[in-house]
Amino acid sequence: MELIDGKKISEEIKREIAAEVEKMIAEGRRRPHLAAILVGHDGGSETYVANKVKSCEQCGFTSTLIRFEDNVTEEELLETIDRLNADDSVDGFIVQLPLPRHINEQKVIEAIDYRKDVDGFHPINVGRMSIGLPCFRSATPAGIMMLLERYGIKTKGAKCVVLGRSNIVGKPVATLLMQKAQPGDATVTVCHSSSENIKEICKDADIIVAAIGKPHFLTADMVKPGATVIDVGTTRVPDASRKSGFRLCGDVDFENVAPLCSHITPVPGGVGPMTIVSLMNNTLQAAQHVIYK
Ligand code: GUN
Repeated sequence: MELIDGKKISEEIKREIAAEVEKMIAEGRRRPHLAAILVGHDGGSETYVANKVKSCEQCGFTSTLIRFEDNVTEEELLETIDRLNADDSVDGFIVQLPLPRHINEQKVIEAIDYRKDVDGFHPINVGRMSIGLPCFRSATPAGIMMLLERYGIKTKGAKCVVLGRSNIVGKPVATLLMQKAQPGDATVTVCHSSSENIKEICKDADIIVAAIGKPHFLTADMVKPGATVIDVGTTRVPDASRKSGFRLCGDVDFENVAPLCSHITPVPGGVGPMTIVSLMNNTLQAAQHVIYK
């Protein structure tokens, strides 16, 4: 069994991005600039956004954090998005999700100029990805594809099972895995809350991507010996022995599944750091106008 070290790969890629930024500076160009909008004080979102800001520093980017309280109106949020869309000093920006219930998340996503949508959530980016056109790919799926590529895991013709059909992970990772590309070219099955025989379907898979948000959902009896397992779960479970009072728990029963696998990602230190690095990569591409001129 080989552990897929997302932390190590993400640090390598951040160094590559930082070197690219220094080249831009040497050519007299400005640093890539990522802005993030954070609403409220959800613990998970605070941590993600703090990590994004830190990664910007490591990559040599400029970052701006715009904070609102939970009671921000949809109108105020949309005005801020319009301002960022029009601001030539900002290459890309994200609105950290989830948003408070009184705000229409889809309306917010669609208000973002797709050329600055470095999260890849705008329907134009999602649609372009689904037909294989250049676009901003959403960060977690893109990070998973980078891990498969860097660890030389063969996807062509592989049987892949994706557990979960969220717009952020399940659907886009299924799209990328089936794309006629390398990595890609896989035979993909997506399982969700109405799927039957999940255990049998998983048991036949060469690659399983678990993105269902249920701690320890994928157990050893569901995994074929020699399979690759990618764990996207990050549920916070109470843990009095930690300073924070919680630990992150993946969707995979790691202890019992890992010995069966050819490759597996840990939680934390697997997919999580790759998600952030994909966002950095998208921001670099936005600053260099690689995708949209
Ligand atoms: N919430 C959970 N994951 C993400 C992400 O990748 N981007 C944003 N904006 N919000 C999230």
